[in-house]
Amino acid sequence: MTRKKFITTLGAGGVALGALNATGETKRILPETKPAAAPLSPLVLADLLNLDDVEAYARTVLPAAVYEFVASGAADELTLRWNREKYHEIRLQQSVLRDLAGLDCATTLLGQKMPTPILLAPTASQMLSHPEGELATARGAGVFGATMVLSAGSNVAIEEVMAVASAPVWFQLYVSKDRAHSKALVERVQAAGVKALCVTVDSPLDGPRNRQMRTPVKLPPGVHHPHYVGIRERIPAPTLDRVEPANLLWRDIEWLRSFTRVPLLLKGVMNPADAIIGLQAGADGIIVSNHGARCLDTQPASIEALPRVVDAVAGRAPVLVDGGIRRGTDVLKALALGATAVLIGRPYVYGLASGGAEGVAHVLKLLRQELWMAMALTGCPTITAIDRKVIWK
Ligand SMILES: Cc1cc2nc3c(=O)[nH]c(=O)nc-3n(C[C@H](O)[C@H](O)[C@H](O)COP(=O)(O)O)c2cc1C
Repeated sequence: MTRKKFITTLGAGGVALGALNATGETKRILPETKPAAAPLSPLVLADLLNLDDVEAYARTVLPAAVYEFVASGAADELTLRWNREKYHEIRLQQSVLRDLAGLDCATTLLGQKMPTPILLAPTASQMLSHPEGELATARGAGVFGATMVLSAGSNVAIEEVMAVASAPVWFQLYVSKDRAHSKALVERVQAAGVKALCVTVDSPLDGPRNRQMRTPVKLPPGVHHPHYVGIRERIPAPTLDRVEPANLLWRDIEWLRSFTRVPLLLKGVMNPADAIIGLQAGADGIIVSNHGARCLDTQPASIEALPRVVDAVAGRAPVLVDGGIRRGTDVLKALALGATAVLIGRPYVYGLASGGAEGVAHVLKLLRQELWMAMALTGCPTITAIDRKVIWK
């Protein structure tokens, strides 16, 4: 099947199905027909000069419903907008004539050496965007040694991802009502070799994702969520007259900590008080995130919450941030405001849609180049040299 025909097929797909709820017991929507591989030529990729270009290209090749699934946020999408705008509002202070010999973007996070402080955030159902899904993402991440956080809602099992990954892989967990299943899953991913566990805590349920509701898509035959197989008690999909939040409590974090042997991070903390409780419950790291603005609309941008959480954590654990990062200067700003590292979500999914593994690698390359330039222009030869002095006051 040609790429064009394949895209047409997908576009014709969608009948509502899949209910998602944020505990991850469910399943996002997938296209009805498994797409054919048709990587974008490296020549075309080279024309995509920044992450917005990559999104614009991905939009032309993705079925409309899949694009909406990736791009949309909750409700009126104010938080979605703020996640970008708040980066725009932060101005940078340049520094000239600094010694930039050996400029280096490498860093260390939780004992893990990283070539850049940029990780791939967990995003579910990547076979929506490319036929190779998470396998292509893992290969693309490996090109630049970037750590990929595999979503519990992936379409490819952890063992298969590990088989193609050349860079470290972390796993993101939604704790299920079936706690025995969650425990077995943690043990399974640890046995597979993941280097850290990110427990998503911000989505006992989703926000009203009206854009997604208007353009639903459907799981194709043969594509599924391998990590959800065997869950005994599923949370039913939310409907207009019924929602059921997941019942995840702080004591569950202590329980997870008791048998998790790798570093455990809490993903989706915006409130400094929660960060403090999280550390007391045994978390080794905090990810400041509003879930890419897909849950609680009108909460602040994650970059606004970051300094408060950094202050509360007070150096006891690394603090990461995601949401709205599209430029190397955004990465620099997040690090200057106290983040140890950042994650990107939608941008690499658009890279995946545009060119499979090469597209993911292209996104990482662009962001790394831009970070490198931003460091040079603000007089920071190393990641540790980045601090608040680069922020214009
Ligand atoms: C299509 C899509 C699927 C996502 N799936 C998950 C998921 O399964 N688990 C999770 O913790 N976060 C998930 N997220 C949130 C991301 O991990 C991340 O917090 C967010 O995308 C960061 O914002 P950005 O897209 O602006 O970079 C998803 C986001 C998107 C766009």
